[in-house]
Amino acid sequence: MTVRKVVLPVAGLGTRLLPATKSQPKEMLPVGCKPVVQHVVDEMMAQGMKQFLFVTSRKKRSIEDYFDDDPELSTALAAKGQSVDELECGAEGINFYYVRQRRACGNGDAVRLAAEFVGGESFVVGFGDTIIYSPHQHQVVERMVAAHELHGASATIGVCEVPYTASSKYGIVQPVGEPGESFAIENIVEKPRPEEAPSNLAVAARYVFSPDIFAALEATEPGMGGELWLADAIGVLLAQGKKVRCVRMQKGEQRYDIGTPLSYYKACADFAIADSRYGEEFCAYLRQKLGEMA
Ligand code: UTP
Repeated sequence: MTVRKVVLPVAGLGTRLLPATKSQPKEMLPVGCKPVVQHVVDEMMAQGMKQFLFVTSRKKRSIEDYFDDDPELSTALAAKGQSVDELECGAEGINFYYVRQRRACGNGDAVRLAAEFVGGESFVVGFGDTIIYSPHQHQVVERMVAAHELHGASATIGVCEVPYTASSKYGIVQPVGEPGESFAIENIVEKPRPEEAPSNLAVAARYVFSPDIFAALEATEPGMGGELWLADAIGVLLAQGKKVRCVRMQKGEQRYDIGTPLSYYKACADFAIADSRYGEEFCAYLRQKLGEMA
């Protein structure tokens, strides 16, 4: 893969998870034994990504600390004979960069701040509050990058199927013709009512963009809530006649957007059940609990 740069917007206010997010980033909440944003970075590193730009803000400094070395902690663990492997966030050739979004004015505004970091290259955007679980060797971002390069697209969006009744929670794409694994779109609609949804394919928090997105963001008016939205900038790309494509998540792949209490609980339950060390015991506990409730 030639795409090596990732932009991770983590500057949102996380209002739907208050008070848990009052003084700590939503992206640092644990799912399984690590913070959500570490799952996202691991996913990207497994697909060969090397340069990471976090778009942060006030109260998000713990993300910078997390992805830094901690010599004091490493020395203390080594002295006790404990492994420090799990603390190693980087590897040879991996670099983390940070830029601050001064106000949470939308996910498009966050991506706009990446222009200098990106230079003239295509890049991946992964929302720092969404885990994509995949059992496959070729995961969704890798497939997106391949499709993006093959078709010379300006934007390639990861999408997943959602029930029509849930369309008002997502950006929904309108495919050109019958959608296959990878397909072109003619429109993207932000949070449509079920009867107005152009398909049941929802944007899944992963994008690949060419630098065309920056001119499109410049030409985009603030939308819903006065914020600058990626979905609106993608609409501008389409209006400019640029190629916008989608790649579907496959069977077995799952999106965990941990932005609401219920979706957070579901993610925690699934990761606890799948945990190689504690999963069995946790399942026994769940069965007992459900039995008590029956
Ligand atoms: P969300 O819209 O899901 O997160 O953004 P939010 O705004 O923090 O949540 P609520 O609605 O207040 O509960 C998806 C990702 O984009 C980042 C968020 O940090 C999250 O990881 N984001 C969002 C930004 O970086 N900047 C923004 O202005 C908005």
